[in-house]
Amino acid sequence: MKSFKDFMKERVKEYYSSTKIGRDFFTAPELDRAFGMALSDHLYQLIHDMSSPALLELGGGNGSLAYDILSTFKSKYPNIYPHLTYYIYESSPYLLALQKERLKEFEGKVFWTCELIPLEGVIFSNEFFDCLPVHVVKDGKELYVDNGKELWGPISDERISLFLERMNYKDKNHVIEVCLECLDFLKAISQHLLKGYHLLIDYGYTSNEMHRYVEGTVVGYKSHKVVKDIVKEAPPFDITVMVNFSAVVEYGKEVGLKTVYLNNLRDFLISSPSFLEELERLSLSQDSEDIERLSRLKTMLVSMGDRFKVLVQEKVSS
Ligand SMILES: C[S@@+](CC[C@H](N)C(=O)[O-])C[C@H]1O[C@@H](n2cnc3c(N)ncnc32)[C@H](O)[C@@H]1O
Repeated sequence: MKSFKDFMKERVKEYYSSTKIGRDFFTAPELDRAFGMALSDHLYQLIHDMSSPALLELGGGNGSLAYDILSTFKSKYPNIYPHLTYYIYESSPYLLALQKERLKEFEGKVFWTCELIPLEGVIFSNEFFDCLPVHVVKDGKELYVDNGKELWGPISDERISLFLERMNYKDKNHVIEVCLECLDFLKAISQHLLKGYHLLIDYGYTSNEMHRYVEGTVVGYKSHKVVKDIVKEAPPFDITVMVNFSAVVEYGKEVGLKTVYLNNLRDFLISSPSFLEELERLSLSQDSEDIERLSRLKTMLVSMGDRFKVLVQEKVSS
């Protein structure tokens, strides 16, 4: 018998050890390069006054986001590009090899790391925190998995109970996901940020929105379809869970990360000049590829726009 958290960790690790992003689901950078262009505009605002800024991306996927950000900085922000260093933190050797291939033209500009490194700049991610494994709890019990069956047992870690108390989650009928690894990551991010920001993009909820997810938010994906029974399904498949943004804000305060921005992805994208320029240019074009790209940008704004949030936290002394 293992905790659901250990089960999820195993499945996610196995999944990313052999699967390219796009086979079972699309992320925004895989939909269109305008996402990376928009993110670059915002990153520029955060680092433009630093002399040698670094960008550290958590979970680089196929390398598309890094490619789009480095391309945008090179063409649009040539003042800062020569002083910029880009790092990717990645645990999957399979995806790391794809990233190296994709980013060949940025050799000497981009580096890989299997641990966080101290830096001035921004540590950021898109759809990274939703991969981190969660403890699933309900009414004082925790979910375990045993040979394809779900069982409820004792809470395995006292930090889970402290979390529920601190976040004031008292509803006995509500399935609550507790991501202790997210909190550990947050602490490590703060410790490694000498100066700068943490920027997190993911789908998620705040405590005020939790009532929409009484049964929890864990989902499995295989071939662009939702997996019906996660504990019985044959691997590999992806398991994700929505990010609890209120917890990231609350625990961020404790480790010296002050929230300076929390908004939905749509507002974040349309406040980027590059994204707006792309939208306008594509909507005036008759070219078939441009028409397809316009439809992908609309998908990003409409179907991801509200589900995804963007959080920016500034490193302050804790
Ligand atoms: C859903 S993909 C997102 C990829 C990319 N950011 C994008 O938007 O296309 C998750 C990425 O995080 C990586 N990852 C997942 N868990 C990780 C962990 N514990 N440590 C490091 N990387 C991890 C995966 O290998 C993969 O590259």
